[in-house]
Amino acid sequence: MENFKRIGVLTSGGDAPGMNAAIRAIVRAALDRNVEVVGIYDGYSGMINDHMELLSSGDVSNIISHGGTILYSARCDEFRYEEGMQKAIANCKKHDIDGVVAIGGDGTFRGATDLSNRGLPTIGVPGSIDNDITASDYSVGFDTAMNTVITMCDALRDTCESHARCNVVEVMGRTAGHIALRSGIASGASAVCINEIPFDEDSCIQRLIKERNNGKRSMLVLVAEGNGDFAEQLTKRIEEKTGIEARFTRLGHIQRGGSPTLEDRFIATQMGAKAVECLLAGQSNVVVCKRGNDIVTYDINYAQNIDRMYKKKLTEEQIAALSPDMRTEMEAFCQMRREQLEALYNLAYEVAR
Ligand code: F6P
Repeated sequence: MENFKRIGVLTSGGDAPGMNAAIRAIVRAALDRNVEVVGIYDGYSGMINDHMELLSSGDVSNIISHGGTILYSARCDEFRYEEGMQKAIANCKKHDIDGVVAIGGDGTFRGATDLSNRGLPTIGVPGSIDNDITASDYSVGFDTAMNTVITMCDALRDTCESHARCNVVEVMGRTAGHIALRSGIASGASAVCINEIPFDEDSCIQRLIKERNNGKRSMLVLVAEGNGDFAEQLTKRIEEKTGIEARFTRLGHIQRGGSPTLEDRFIATQMGAKAVECLLAGQSNVVVCKRGNDIVTYDINYAQNIDRMYKKKLTEEQIAALSPDMRTEMEAFCQMRREQLEALYNLAYEVAR
């Protein structure tokens, strides 16, 4: 075990329900090993602006059930530049911080790598409602967001049933369709549209017409955000082409709030405790991930490369620089993720018929 006396914790990027459960687990797991924890406020900008304070066990009492993050969150441009990073590291040194746990998404992990590369061991914990950290089966906040979506969809279903309408519902996810897909299945949507798989609009229209002809009054179509005003325009086209009265709803940031579900509290606790265990054991620049029933770690660079490969953001040169074995392994990983997504997509349409 490294001789750590004090670690820092921050939340950065879009907040996610369950972040508080992760903070609590980190504080408690560290205190259990006689290591103090400094809470860093407002993500990386709190590091730069020296907005930090020691957290006691009592400071994290009764937060497990609260949405948002007691450490607040921000996206920080200044941290992208060397000057900002150096300020952040100097402030961490001033507070005797030996290592950091950073909870957030992709941007948060880039910051974690920057700190690790400059000699401050840092570990990432996936916190994002989007569930778009490809290396991990799960990111904290996903389950709560989906539960919020299905609650809202159930309410929309009621009014659609009364008025014999179709409601097109746009949900968050940035460019990822996980929220739309699972919530669509769970709310009995007639169709789901995500950015990863081409959407057959004509067959969606035909399906809605067929459903109406079979006597169905209420219809929901779930659309993942990330495609401009596509969902709004689709609503208009559905009304024009099917004759079914249609309404558009953008659920927006309501999906980011609320009391975390059991799943989010539980996985956040597992991941937070694992992050502390790994940091104190001398690991750095790794991200805690869920794979099946296990909580594991991956090197952040590897995790980010997997992510970029999956999202087709790796350049030809970057791909060529990978060893043949590594490339094969990463391609297989991405293929596994694509197959998981396709299986759910097929299920969504199979049960909508
Ligand atoms: O990454 C989480 C997320 O909620 C995305 O689903 C969404 O696209 C984005 O953040 C919204 O960001 P902001 O809070 O900056 O509006």
